[in-house]
Amino acid sequence: MYSEKVMDHFQNPRNVGEIEDASGVGTVGNAKCGDIMRIYLDIDDETHVIRDCKFKTFGCGAAVATSSMATELVKGKTIEEAMKVTNKAVMEALDGLPPVKVHCSLLAEEAIHAALWDYAQKHGITVEGLSKPKSDIHEGEEEAEEEY
Ligand code: FES
Repeated sequence: MYSEKVMDHFQNPRNVGEIEDASGVGTVGNAKCGDIMRIYLDIDDETHVIRDCKFKTFGCGAAVATSSMATELVKGKTIEEAMKVTNKAVMEALDGLPPVKVHCSLLAEEAIHAALWDYAQKHGITVEGLSKPKSDIHEGEEEAEEEY
């Protein structure tokens, strides 16, 4: 049911933890399953490169695996490049997820966006395609699942 990559990232999640004095922090949840995820970003103010990224999740195995992969994918990228790390890209990197678990990957994407939003707000910058995060990703879930 789960790919080897999903199992690997679930059993050995990368970048678990928090960053002290993070440049941006984002927390999102899904009211349906009750899962919560928080992402911490350390961003270089000059280059806007994400130097480090960590996460904490109170979520299912797929949420752990997707956050682990998502943090790996955004590390070393600029904010603009990180915006292209969609939940679809994360799922592809994990060799897929069962359809009922697609919303878990959205949690990771939304948490990264929320952390980027936090950074952008603090620094008064605008990031193309970035909008105010929803506190509950369930609000946009149907639409996003159809897209996939
Ligand atoms: Fe909710 Fe996976 S079941 S994040």
